[in-house]
Amino acid sequence: MKLTLSHIKADVGGYVGHSASHPEVLAKADECLTKAKQAGLLIDYHVTKCGDDLQLIMTHQQGEESPQIHKLAWDTFLEGTEIAKKLKLYGAGQDLLSDAFSGNVKGMGPGVAEMEFEERKSEPVIIFMADKTSAGAWNMPLYKMFADPFNTIGLVIAPNMHAGFTFEVHDVKGHKRITLHAPEEIYDLLVFIGAPSRYVVKAVYHRGTGEIASVSSTQRLSLIADRYVGKDDPVCIVRAQGNFPAVGEILEPFTFPILVQGWMRGSHHGPFMPVSIPDSTPTRFDGPPRVTAAGFQLAEGKLIGPRDMFADKSFDLARQQANEIANYMRRHGPFEPHRLPLEEMEYTTMPQVVSKLEGRFVDLG
Ligand code: 13P
Ligand code: 13P
Ligand code: MG
Ligand code: MG
Repeated sequence: MKLTLSHIKADVGGYVGHSASHPEVLAKADECLTKAKQAGLLIDYHVTKCGDDLQLIMTHQQGEESPQIHKLAWDTFLEGTEIAKKLKLYGAGQDLLSDAFSGNVKGMGPGVAEMEFEERKSEPVIIFMADKTSAGAWNMPLYKMFADPFNTIGLVIAPNMHAGFTFEVHDVKGHKRITLHAPEEIYDLLVFIGAPSRYVVKAVYHRGTGEIASVSSTQRLSLIADRYVGKDDPVCIVRAQGNFPAVGEILEPFTFPILVQGWMRGSHHGPFMPVSIPDSTPTRFDGPPRVTAAGFQLAEGKLIGPRDMFADKSFDLARQQANEIANYMRRHGPFEPHRLPLEEMEYTTMPQVVSKLEGRFVDLG
């Protein structure tokens, strides 16, 4: 059975500030998707949140980039925005950058990750969701899952993974893409994906079969809007087991709270903290950045789950380390490398300050 798994998300308003989502917004989204399921457009759906981002997980048979599915998501975000406006939530409609829907939500603000595949005999999938960070946050975790034998022992000892995986990398500033093969091109791959503000892993494929293994949202809001509108807060779908890494190999990279871009005003580096879905409430300095993981078994397109994968004691140490790193980074205050370098900052007073002090700059001689 050919199935499409679509994950479309947007921040339609924060409760309180940018710290979480309001239950009434989630309830409205649930109502919208129930209707679409009853009408036969969706096979199944799950509505959830990560911090202040509304997450729509949908299964259907319309294929990727279906105008009907994208319109359903867009209309759901508009309905959520109405509730957010009524409750005067913070940044109501924040990620809806356009007034007119034209068949596809890409480039309009929402984040999109979609994959079409033949459902296997058993189809475990993990859906990662992030708040207070940008699209490149998945680069290192995906590298570890699909190319690092110290993370994924299956690359060494499982015959069906030993040939490796192919990475599709997008240059989000140059609007280009390149395909690189692991393991033989990992040094070339790392030259690019080690710069996650520009090069973003869009998808990963199994080399033997060409099957899609992972897809992530790569929309960079600041590049679309040309101004600060909030963080990308990206999502990433990963298929597990069989030809793909085991569930535990997919979760393992998150035991290390890597530094990612985002946090307060989208302008800081901070630790990527793995948390349960109820704990995705970035409060300290609007963070630290969070990642959640919803696990599902698919059954004829039905979403069996979710299991809240980071609601597990084995991630306690990563959370504690993330809090310690958060303390350490915070003590740098307005200094780099806590604050992002000038060219990466989502907004800045630099031009105004420079123009105010223009006459006072004198040549060094
Ligand atoms: P305001 O300047 O609207 O308070 O926003 C600050 C902030 O929360 C950045 O997203
Ligand atoms: P969001 O992108 O999650 O709305 O965060 C905005 C922000 O700047 C928080 O300080
Ligand atoms: Mg927000
Ligand atoms: Mg957010």
